[in-house]
Amino acid sequence: MYLNREEERIYDGEYGWAKQVCMKILVKLGELFGASRLIPVESAHVSGVSYKTLGDAPIDFLEALAESCEKVAVEATLNPQSLDPKHLIRRLPENLVKTQLKLCQIFEKMGFRTSYTCTPYYVKKPTKGAHLAWAESSAVVYANSILGAWTNREGGPSALAAAIIGKTPDCGIHNAENREPKVMVEVRATLEREVDYGALGIFLGKVLEDKIPLITGLKNPTLEKLKQLGAALASSGMVNMFHYDSATPKTPTQEPLEKVVVEARNIQEAIEELTTTSTQKPDLIFIGCPHCSLREIREIAEKIGDKKVRRDMELWICTSRHVKDKARKHVQRIEASGAKIITDTCAVVTWTDKLGIKTIMTNSAKTAHYAPTLNKAEAKLASLEECLKTALKE
Ligand code: F3S
Repeated sequence: MYLNREEERIYDGEYGWAKQVCMKILVKLGELFGASRLIPVESAHVSGVSYKTLGDAPIDFLEALAESCEKVAVEATLNPQSLDPKHLIRRLPENLVKTQLKLCQIFEKMGFRTSYTCTPYYVKKPTKGAHLAWAESSAVVYANSILGAWTNREGGPSALAAAIIGKTPDCGIHNAENREPKVMVEVRATLEREVDYGALGIFLGKVLEDKIPLITGLKNPTLEKLKQLGAALASSGMVNMFHYDSATPKTPTQEPLEKVVVEARNIQEAIEELTTTSTQKPDLIFIGCPHCSLREIREIAEKIGDKKVRRDMELWICTSRHVKDKARKHVQRIEASGAKIITDTCAVVTWTDKLGIKTIMTNSAKTAHYAPTLNKAEAKLASLEECLKTALKE
């Protein structure tokens, strides 16, 4: 892999051990995936910020990196951590809270923006055509497919290294030929609700594995529905982008090799498979995976109206602190119902089991996919309307 003089000097340790380690991570990855060089990135987005998902092992390394006074070289954002500053921080065990706060300080010391969201594109939209080094799978699919930016699905360490060096290996879908669709997907089912799009994503993720699809038959989906599709696609498979109908950037240079047809029963079956409980009384109703947009917060506030959350369950609406700040009027209305607007985290990356939550109802196929393993909870997948109907008193 070619390195310019400056990159070589970093690699050789002339700028200190921290930059050297980061450069070595990038070069190793580049060599593994056949990159010929490094390319500058507009931004980096780091995952593995939640102590629940990160664990103890990398903390000493991260601390040493921050102690070495290494700072990020580009706009760099953070995925959700395990706490929110208002509600959960008071309810979780002190030792977990303490370690999570320490982790946050480490990242902040390195100059990361305190975004704590899986939707960094609502904080700052990447430039169309820009190269990024993002590690949150749902954001990677959104950036590539909806925003027209270019990013591989980075791991936590490689996104961190890219943030500090400001570059990433030029491989994978940083190259135009690797962004071509390989499978034509014909959706014959009528998809209306966000949960249908999530179910489509789960179904396709399993079928496609890592092959990029061109999806036809979607009827004017909102950006939020496409967000659900992408998040689910990246959960059950390794797909990092999709093309869809008129949004397809250009005609494929080759005929797609395979064709997949999606019928209504495939969507229904995916929803049923993701529902592991028949309870009518979930402990938690969770909206906001991926984190809600401003438009979603407004829609939820309007749907809640003057109703109140039932006493025997919790309703969490998760979003970024950035969107919450912009949505003050709607936030007040939602919180007046007894629902909790949770920022900086989500139900999946916090310890819901330590809060006594055994069943989670959600409109997110991604959450339903992960809840049994990451939350040790039963899941119920339903539309936003059904979730709110369950959570609110008549
Ligand atoms: Fe975001 Fe948590 Fe879902 S990090 S994508 S809300 S699992």
